[in-house]
Formats: sequence, structure tokens, C-alpha cells
Amino acid sequence: MERTLVLIKPDGVARNLVGEILTRIERKGLRIVAMELRTLDEGTAKTHYEEHASRPFFPSLVEFITSGPLIAMVLEGERSVEAFRALAGATDPVAAGPGTIRGDFALEVQANLVHGSDSTYSAEREIKLFFPDLG
Ligand code: TYD
Ligand code: MG
Repeated sequence: MERTLVLIKPDGVARNLVGEILTRIERKGLRIVAMELRTLDEGTAKTHYEEHASRPFFPSLVEFITSGPLIAMVLEGERSVEAFRALAGATDPVAAGPGTIRGDFALEVQANLVHGSDSTYSAEREIKLFFPDLG
């Protein structure tokens, strides 16, 4: 069964949107197989977002993602990578459709509430980074 790594970013935790977001995940039928509240250290944040290391927004992104506690989780289900990205909506919340997490609750590109792996290859890498003990 396909797995994906999902984060409720620090803005989502700070705005008390954890329950709202988990409800949408559960209602969709995705299964939570691991979940933890934690604050990322700089090294983990940089590794997680390494594909963006040369982008101008990278330092700000690392500062934001380490700014407070986030929820990291692993979801399992049929085409879960694509399924969660559809729930999340477009990266830019203004472009994200209504009915999506970002479309309904966010306005800024950086503080866009959630992360979801973008491929099964990324999912495998990110799950190893966040949950190295998960079998
Ligand atoms: P990206 O992987 O392109 O988006 P997604 O989260 O939808 O996979 O970018 C990672 C995060 O970086 C994105 O969620 C928000 C942030 N970001 C910016 O702050 N500015 C930008 O211009 C872009 C493209 C992303
Ligand atoms: Mg991405």
C-alpha cells in the first residue's frame, strides 16, 4: 500500500487547525500509520527541503519550518501521494481551489499549512528522514 509523508506546518499548529486537517485526511479514507508533534532542527529542515537549497526563498523556508512545533505523519492508502496533494491544493493558496486545505485556510505561499510528498520516491526519502524506525 502506498505511503506518503505529510506535515502540518507550524502555522497550522499555531492556528489550531490540526483537528480540521486530520478530519479531512480521515474523511478521505487515508490511514494514519505514524504521527508525532515535534520541532525540526535546522539540519533536518535543510535535508527535508534539499531540492530547494539554491532557491532565494530557501533560508526563509528553513526559518519558518523550524519556528515552532509541527505535526509529522505517515499516511497510507491507494495512491496516497496524489490523494493527499489533491486534498492540500496548489502550493500558492490563492491559486488553490476552494475545498482544499490551502484554498480554504491559507493566503501566503510560505505559510501554506501542509506539506505532502510529491512522488513515491520523495515519500520514501522523507519517511526515512522523519520516521527512520518505521518498517
Ligand atoms: P514546493 O515543493 O514547490 O511546493 P509544495 O509544498 O506544494 O510541494 O515548495 C516547498 C515549499 O516552499 C512550499 O510549500 C512553500 C515554500 N515556497 C515559498 O516560500 N516560495 C515559493 O516561491 C515557492 C515555490 C515555495
Ligand atoms: Mg514540494
